[in-house]
Amino acid sequence: MSYVPPHMRNSTSTTIDNNTISTSNSHSNNNNNSLFNPSRRTSAAPPPSRFLSAPDPLFPPWQPSQRVSRMNPHQIEEVRLRLNLDVTSDSPAAPTPIESFTDMCLDPSIMKDIAYHDYTRPTSIQAQAMPIALSGRDLLGCAETGSGKTAAFTIPMIQHCVAQTPIRRGDGPLALVLAPTRELAQQIEKEVKAFSRSIESLKTAIVVGGSNIEKQRSELKAGVEVVVATPGRFIDHLQQGNTSLSRVSFFVLDEADRMLDMGFEPQIREVMRSLPDKHQTLLFSATMPVEIEVLAKEYLSSPVHVKVGKVSSPTTNVLQNLVKVSENEKIDRLLDVLVEEASQAEKSGHPFPLTIVFVERKTRCDEVTEALIAQGLSAVSLHGGRSQGERESALHDFRSSSTNILVATDVASRGLDVTGVSHVINLDLPKTMEDYVHRIGRTGRAGSTGLSTSFYTDRDMFLVANIRKAIADAESGNTLSFATGKFARRKEKEAAAAQKEANIAVSKNMGIGAASVNIEDKYKFMMSASNNKGEGTADSAWDD
Ligand SMILES: Nc1ncnc2c1ncn2[C@@H]1O[C@H](COP(=O)(O)OP(=O)(O)OP(=O)(O)O)[C@@H](O)[C@H]1O
Ligand SMILES: [Mg+2]
Repeated sequence: MSYVPPHMRNSTSTTIDNNTISTSNSHSNNNNNSLFNPSRRTSAAPPPSRFLSAPDPLFPPWQPSQRVSRMNPHQIEEVRLRLNLDVTSDSPAAPTPIESFTDMCLDPSIMKDIAYHDYTRPTSIQAQAMPIALSGRDLLGCAETGSGKTAAFTIPMIQHCVAQTPIRRGDGPLALVLAPTRELAQQIEKEVKAFSRSIESLKTAIVVGGSNIEKQRSELKAGVEVVVATPGRFIDHLQQGNTSLSRVSFFVLDEADRMLDMGFEPQIREVMRSLPDKHQTLLFSATMPVEIEVLAKEYLSSPVHVKVGKVSSPTTNVLQNLVKVSENEKIDRLLDVLVEEASQAEKSGHPFPLTIVFVERKTRCDEVTEALIAQGLSAVSLHGGRSQGERESALHDFRSSSTNILVATDVASRGLDVTGVSHVINLDLPKTMEDYVHRIGRTGRAGSTGLSTSFYTDRDMFLVANIRKAIADAESGNTLSFATGKFARRKEKEAAAAQKEANIAVSKNMGIGAASVNIEDKYKFMMSASNNKGEGTADSAWDD
């Protein structure tokens, strides 16, 4: 399929009929059971733009600096090699990677905000993804945790919004970002605000579950340029007619794979089908299972695939430590680690390092938090069973370091960026390699180093084998990626099942049963003597 930029795609008769989206897009949805069925709309539908067609989105031609435009293929290849970029694209070729924000020729207000935030140069993913997004292309971006994917879509998104015909009261947003959890959506919205602080006309709305729906409704109806949302609540608003997709020409799925995992695939597909013809779509994650590639093939127009380094693998900034324990020792061993860490910090005059303890279930989260508090440690819990106010206050306390330990379910595993987290402890290992990659990626961000300690039991041997392989691959510089995603996992498991018994025996012989510590001297001050244990079932924290 050859690439058709958004502004050249078949113009559709995108109209708003009684506030319902109707497009002649080949993906358009003619199903009466549509999630966005007009019959489900409330009488309070947005009024003034009701009978007007949405103005066409604008994709003004974008050019980088002359210096970049003059680069020859050899130089481009050299930059990609240096930045560890793997780029594939149908024609036309992917835009040139750009190693300075100045060469990106961004709106001066955005440049001012980039400088204000002390971003001196783009990270690898930004260097390649931003020119792609700025030139109106679709993108599938995969780069390790903490590598700056948020700004890679936020900055071009703001530039895109600035170029559009102003929104009118009752119009839907120009850009939509969907993220899997409320806290992540809130964090992304803050970043949008951070890079648009000099652009007064750009308004954003955060649309997540657990928060005041009335306030969201009135913000949406008044009109905002950017909506950052969790899928469930956003779809509620679409169904109630509080907003529409008719002007969305920049669509981002952050942690795209997680949202499919959460069962939002039908809704996400429907959103993608209902977007106006002229739009661009960007999908990001640190892990890219095949399911995402399938979705991208269906809905993205000749996307550029950008991979930085080793796909779906733990960041090499984190020193990974695996410790075998028995299930009922786990909490004691955790206390040993944390109490030791506290005393080392006290001795060295350092503050207690910010630590996230991941557990499998909500109830266990509270139980572990109580045990830590009883031991005199400062801990809060974050899980889907808590009220939104409690969730926000727990994260606020942790971000401000007034509490040093966050005990969380996987609700905190994706995207959260808390400066200063130096230790991630998996009290219970997750079920999948992807979750492990994201969990330990809460430390070792933006080029800093971190430590992870994972307790495991016999039931975790399959994942432990994968983690060991990842560690060995990182040590040997092997850049082969893991097969991830449901299909790949099923295949792997089938193969593994046959050898399960033998593997366990072999692991024992190889000493996996013993506490296995892989810690460089520089991290030793953060470690206790040793420790170990594990088990559980899936947590239903994903209630957004
Ligand atoms: N160009 C840059 N210069 C300096 N710091 C940056 C730059 N880009 C991003 N950062 C910082 O790096 C940190 C990580 O960024 P971000 O949260 O976007 O990572 P991510 O790739 O989305 O990670 P994850 O996969 O965990 O979601 C943030 O604190 C961000 O402010
Ligand atoms: Mg992110």
